[in-house]
Amino acid sequence: MNFTGAHILSIAQFERADIERVFAVADSMQPYALRRRVTRVLEGAILGNMFFEASTRTRISFGCAFNLLGGEVRETTGFASSAISKGESLHDTARVLSGYSDVICMRHPVSGSVKEFAHASRVPVINGGDGENEHPTQALLDLYTIRKEMASHGRDIDGLRIAMIGDLKYGRTVHSLCKLLCLFDNVQLTLVSPGELAMPEAIVEQLRQAGHSVTITEDLPQSIGHVDIAYSTRIQEERFATKDEADLYRGRFRLNQAIYTQYCEPNTVIMHPLPRDSRADANELDNDLDENPNLAIFRQADNGVLVRMALFALVLDVVEQVDKYARDVNWYNSRRKV
Ligand code: CP
Repeated sequence: MNFTGAHILSIAQFERADIERVFAVADSMQPYALRRRVTRVLEGAILGNMFFEASTRTRISFGCAFNLLGGEVRETTGFASSAISKGESLHDTARVLSGYSDVICMRHPVSGSVKEFAHASRVPVINGGDGENEHPTQALLDLYTIRKEMASHGRDIDGLRIAMIGDLKYGRTVHSLCKLLCLFDNVQLTLVSPGELAMPEAIVEQLRQAGHSVTITEDLPQSIGHVDIAYSTRIQEERFATKDEADLYRGRFRLNQAIYTQYCEPNTVIMHPLPRDSRADANELDNDLDENPNLAIFRQADNGVLVRMALFALVLDVVEQVDKYARDVNWYNSRRKV
């Protein structure tokens, strides 16, 4: 794909070579993400960070990524502080905000809304999650993490064995990740969810069309016995009609150190897009896993900055100039744990 000026709305836009390009640029961002070097390549540029749904990681890491490239960030959070609450359309919002920004990141609770916004925007728009539909940058950072974790075990993404666990119906991160895995070869997927929250049939069909093996089950212990990655997800209670309905499924699939020790192979990597639901009735990834070296969830979140820096650099066509406008930092936080 031609990244320059492109909207990043769906994994469907990507081919395998595009993924390799994003990952190579993400690798090159490491000194800047670690704050060892500083670049001013996007000095004068403005990111419009428009989050109409709750977010910690995606919103802040998009903002950090843009700042680390030298740009500035303007934000809207929630509908109440936006004129959308006065009846303004997505079209008009996009026309206005794209006059104030060089690139826009947007999260919205309605599937397809970011695409609708992008059609009216005068600058590139990056999808930070639209309803239950997609979360393409999360899938890219997930796969970047999988690649790194597998490489540390001398393995590749091709031939990957992965269990996806939890709310696979409403979990947009697993929708995007499955679509991304279709670009690779010979992946074995085990999809673990309550029957009512199963992966949409169209995505399962897409995986099978790609030649992957797909097993659908409600049995967690048997599913995590022979996988490289156990990817847990939260029950997406914001997509249910009522909290009571979500409560029916909360806590159904819990992973803790005892279960891990009993059922998983020693090097199984645990991932989760976060937030993990740590309330007692859910506790989907127990805190007793926090010292497990194979718990990759915080490395995964860190990787979000690298991947989002790469996307900004590609979309704004400054990859080749990042180092030209760089220097070592005047300070270094030597106490910061990497
Ligand atoms: N993974 C993710 O999208 O997290 P946030 O909802 O905190 O952005």
